[in-house]
Formats: sequence, C-alpha cells, structure tokens
Amino acid sequence: MASLETFRLHAFVCSNQRAPNHPRGCCADKNSLDIMTRLKRAARAAGIDDVRVNKSGCLDHCESGVSCVVYPAGVWYTIPDDDAAIARIVEHFAGGEVATDFLMGD
Ligand code: FES
Repeated sequence: MASLETFRLHAFVCSNQRAPNHPRGCCADKNSLDIMTRLKRAARAAGIDDVRVNKSGCLDHCESGVSCVVYPAGVWYTIPDDDAAIARIVEHFAGGEVATDFLMGD
C-alpha cells in the first residue's frame, strides 16, 4: 500500500453520467472517462509517479466540463478531448507551470 505522503498532486476528473437531455449536461457525455484514462496514461508515460489521477463523481461545474480539479492547490481545468491539451496538463503535473489555456472559466 502506498504511503500517505506518496502523492504530490491529486487530480480528480469527473466521470458523472446523467440522463440524456438533463439541463446541466454531464462530463461523461463529453468523453470524460476516456480523457481521464489518457491523462493517467500520459502521466505514467512521462515517468510521473507522485501524481494520482482518479475519476470522481460530479464536481458541480457540469456546464464547464470535462471538469478536473488538482489538489492541493485547487487548480480547476476544463480538459478538452485533445491529446495536445492533455500533454500540456501533464507538463503541469511534472512540475511545470499551470496550463493556463485550459483553466476553467467563471
Ligand atoms: S457532471 Fe461533471 S462536474 Fe457535474
């Protein structure tokens, strides 16, 4: 079992699925589970072993999804279904700057 001090960052990606035509929509309909998997794999491929990427339930920013929050800083991303965007977020995970192009808007 991993130590409690293992993870430098912890990223949660919403995978919530709502009924079709729900007024708020949902991240699952924007391919969030696949995006989360690609984010996790890209981080692993980059040799990052101290950042945990997990799926989550609704993060209450449904209209702005695919929603992702990265702790401990509480950085919120809207992750596009795009590998270049995912790669940029992985650079953040590796210790680079926050990927400002993908910060969630108000
Ligand atoms: S459905 Fe993803 S934030 Fe609500």
